[in-house]
Amino acid sequence: MRHLIGPLDFTLEETEQLLDLADAIAADPAAYQEAARHKKLATLFYEPSTRTRLSFEAAMLNLGGSVLGFSSADSSSAAKGESVADTIRVISCYADIAAMRHPKEGAPFRAARYSRIPVINAGDGGHQHPTQTLTDLMTIRRRKGRLGGLTIGLCGDLKFGRTVHSLMMALSRWEGIRFVLISPEELRVPDYIITETIAPRGIAYEEVRSLENAMPTLDILYMTRVQRERFFNEEDYIRLKDSYILTAEKMKLAKEDMAVLHPLPRVNEIALSVDGDPRAAYFEQAQNGVYVRMALIMTLLGLEK
Ligand code: NCD
Repeated sequence: MRHLIGPLDFTLEETEQLLDLADAIAADPAAYQEAARHKKLATLFYEPSTRTRLSFEAAMLNLGGSVLGFSSADSSSAAKGESVADTIRVISCYADIAAMRHPKEGAPFRAARYSRIPVINAGDGGHQHPTQTLTDLMTIRRRKGRLGGLTIGLCGDLKFGRTVHSLMMALSRWEGIRFVLISPEELRVPDYIITETIAPRGIAYEEVRSLENAMPTLDILYMTRVQRERFFNEEDYIRLKDSYILTAEKMKLAKEDMAVLHPLPRVNEIALSVDGDPRAAYFEQAQNGVYVRMALIMTLLGLEK
């Protein structure tokens, strides 16, 4: 039995295969509408989420399966003090696969150890978010036709943004990747990402402050929201929240075929005037999230169309 807890759980080849399946689903969704018939997905969300939870639910429903679960810790037995280990043991009796979001780093990893069904990490604290990464990879591959040989700018809250951590780790396995890390000093990428993944693999990266200067070199610009809920005090958040705002004006500095990604929700970091630019890929990315989660559920459950 397999789980998806971290961005490196699937090899490069397995990831490409999963993305191939997601592309096939996108080309003909109707062909997959019975693939998970009689299967149940449990969504165990201890932290608020709209798109991740709903995209998991939509994915399972699109496959002809059904869904059950909870969408906040206070509506689950966690409020009574139940451990994640016990919860997953019980859920293993009710469902065939589970997606878990938890404010505590490592909670889905712990759940997987006690689970009899595949567990998917749907975001653990400021740590990792591997299914958003699959969504991001699918979007990059569809836009650029490849995952290697790209200069990827990541901009905003690189410290608390778990989608950034997972995406950098996942992409580090393709050849010719270059990262441009654009953030305020306080929101730099955590050291462990550099020392454990980026440096040992000899990947080119630079840390810069200016989005404008970086812009002309980028093939992909990955914008992120400043993660308010992970700040210790509100003043710091207010000071940093508008560090970077992508506008139509700044888009003029970018390559004609650059793609702008954002995991959403957007707050202020991309002006509405960018939405109509053909390089804006973030709503397409949300659509891809459903296809990729369909492919993931099929892969972990060993289902055929
Ligand atoms: C991201 C998350 O939850 O980390 N959202 C998402 O899953 N689409 C990004 C964010 O909340 O900023």
